[in-house]
Amino acid sequence: MLAIEQLYKSFPTPQGPLPILQGVDVRLARGSSLALMGESGSGKSTLLHLVAGLDRADSGRILIDDVPLDGRSEASLAQWRREGIGLVFQQYNLISSLDVGLNLTFQARLAGRHDPHWAAYLAQRLGLADLLERYPEQLSGGQQQRVAIGRALAGRPAWLLADEP
Ligand SMILES: Nc1ncnc2c1ncn2[C@@H]1O[C@H](COP(=O)(O)OP(=O)(O)OP(=O)(O)O)[C@@H](O)[C@H]1O
Ligand SMILES: [Mg+2]
Repeated sequence: MLAIEQLYKSFPTPQGPLPILQGVDVRLARGSSLALMGESGSGKSTLLHLVAGLDRADSGRILIDDVPLDGRSEASLAQWRREGIGLVFQQYNLISSLDVGLNLTFQARLAGRHDPHWAAYLAQRLGLADLLERYPEQLSGGQQQRVAIGRALAGRPAWLLADEP
């Protein structure tokens, strides 16, 4: 279960703090999915980054299976990012010095979860099988996005966080 309780987040600006998330509540059972919809600038990416442990909220709680994310050490947050979730960034964030095949599997390898059969299946399903030796700059936007989706799924995470997939 993912539970978000009364989450608040603002960003500092020269005019003072800009409130973005103002008391967000979400409950999501394992195996279910939720689509967040909102205007550009409304805070969707901000919320995903908080759940991913890439940023910290001003107040409120995020609980994964009843364990709060805040209060964890940096090492524990790093483990959550590496092993707990798959994250598809809005801007993809592929590693430019690695080819598609390595971009797909790099994180799963780091997490000790690389499975060559699953990686090959993902490449096939995502239409990337013929592109494995190309580099991100040699791909179209849609192809880069599919690499980002494949990378997020490669380690078979319990949770997939996808920003504008
Ligand atoms: N580091 C930051 N400092 C100041 N303001 C920020 C920062 N990051 C985001 N914002 C502001 O916070 C708001 C929410 O941004 P966010 O990226 O979460 O929106 P979004 O809903 O994902 O938008 P989009 O649909 O365009 O991707 C925006 O108004 C943005 O300008
Ligand atoms: Mg966004």
